[in-house]
Amino acid sequence: MTALRSTLDTSGAEFAGYRDAMLAKLAELEAEHAKAIEGGGEKYTARHHKRGKLLVRERIELLLDEDSPFLELSPLAGWGSDFKVGASVVTGIGVVEGVECVIIGNDPTVRGGASNPWTVRKIFRASDIALENRLPVINLVESGGADLPTQKEIFIPGGRLFRDLTRLSAAGIPTIALVFGNSTAGGAYVPGMSDHVVMIEERSKVFLGGPPLVKMATGEESDDESLGGAAMHARSSGLADYLARDEPDAIRIGRRIVARLNWRKRGPAPGPVTAPRYDEEELLGVVPDGLKVPFDPRDVLARVVDGSEFDEFKPLYGNSLVTGWARVHGYPVGVLANARGILFSEESQKAAQFIQLANQTDTPLLFLHNTTGYMVGKDYEQGGIIKHGAMMINAVSNSKVPHISLLIGASYGAGHYGMCGRAYDPRFLFAWPSAKSAVMGPQQLAGVLSIVARAASEARGQAYDEEGDAAMRAAVEAQVEAESLPMFLSGRLYDDGVIDPRDTRTVLGLCLSAIHNNPVQGARFDGTGFGVFRM
Ligand code: COA
Repeated sequence: MTALRSTLDTSGAEFAGYRDAMLAKLAELEAEHAKAIEGGGEKYTARHHKRGKLLVRERIELLLDEDSPFLELSPLAGWGSDFKVGASVVTGIGVVEGVECVIIGNDPTVRGGASNPWTVRKIFRASDIALENRLPVINLVESGGADLPTQKEIFIPGGRLFRDLTRLSAAGIPTIALVFGNSTAGGAYVPGMSDHVVMIEERSKVFLGGPPLVKMATGEESDDESLGGAAMHARSSGLADYLARDEPDAIRIGRRIVARLNWRKRGPAPGPVTAPRYDEEELLGVVPDGLKVPFDPRDVLARVVDGSEFDEFKPLYGNSLVTGWARVHGYPVGVLANARGILFSEESQKAAQFIQLANQTDTPLLFLHNTTGYMVGKDYEQGGIIKHGAMMINAVSNSKVPHISLLIGASYGAGHYGMCGRAYDPRFLFAWPSAKSAVMGPQQLAGVLSIVARAASEARGQAYDEEGDAAMRAAVEAQVEAESLPMFLSGRLYDDGVIDPRDTRTVLGLCLSAIHNNPVQGARFDGTGFGVFRM
């Protein structure tokens, strides 16, 4: 075993400065998370409680095994949009009767729990996670259905919500709906498409059309209970499998359903777990504020992996990418971590080789991003940087072992792709508050625009407007900077959440444990594995 020796000077002024900057970012993040937690705010929360109902987070807490963790997903969905942070739904992975489940709970205090475009995307993501990792799904339903003013953006893509439920079932992944209140129109297909349905007496209301709509459509007079009440569905329509007395009873029944799933994880069990030799608190001071100064990702690994033990692969070759083998909470991982930011031909080839090795040994991969992209310039183009970068991207795209990506610093350009960015379907992708992601750095992007504009103006024989150029550059730089920040990207569901660096090991452990519900098998070298590598 090779234990990492961290050279981080935790008593120096530099460390203290980086730590302060990270703590300031975490405080901002906390304030945004608090908005998601407050849901619809005091007025709607009080009204909900007064009706004798539990809040969505209270429902989740009761549903989960006591003192077990809940890995919340996409808590900042909708950030920066016209909708409430969190997008009127809570999603995450939690343990019920010892089984890791994906929980999807509507927040009825936010616009009646109606689904806006971000809600829909957040639920799609939770469903994908359930399908890829083979996790049972529990829907806690209480929703006004589609957010009517934005229906044009959700009606057509939103059909996937129900499709996903039945595809999960077809894949042998159980789906459970606990219906706490309204589940109207399209929403009626959540219980409709679920394997197991629990409804609550005098609370659950599930109909394709409520009394006013029925009156309009057919002239028939009806009431909520006869059209879609829980008692009716338990006794007449058969849509409810279980009739609960109240909310705690519905949750109790939900837990019993999970207990009877006879769930068995199919991936290999973890080995013994040893804590890192370095304090994870110190992760606060690793990343330089502003990302201008490089940092050693081994300082991160030393505080994240089991026993700080890391067997580095090809340490003397392509050393701006660190590759090697470790364990996290007893699960083996192959790590690819950017060291000095730029990916050259050697780094790309090393990555492609390493990814193949991980596939050969069925070892999940962990990508730690801090890259400004692939190297540009005449020598590098002539040296084949495109084909070597393509080789790495081929390996990442066709690798079959589970991938987890963690954005800790920059994640720019095609480097974001080669390091398994969002479009490359990592099983999970989290970001630290220090992360930044864009096609390139804001200054560089503004500079490129300026050079192009200057050349165009010269070609027209016009004098270049220097003042206008400076203003344009400042504006573009500010815009791209804002759009590169983790809260903005998380708001658009480009990651699964922004995490406190100190929680990294726990979050990775929870992800790896969830991943191992499915078998872990790499690509094979029999023609069904990788595409043609351009050598
Ligand atoms: N789209 C947009 N806004 C909605 C909404 C929807 N589908 N459903 C509710 N809201 C809004 C309400 O306008 C209200 O806004 P306000 O407080 O700013 O006035 C807020 O959410 C709370 O709704 P309210 O009716 O006061 O809450 P409630 O708990 O008493 O009732 C519902 C909740 C869901 C039963 C009720 O709002 C309802 O029937 N909504 C429409 C359901 C429907 O037919 N949807 C179509 C599905 S395709």
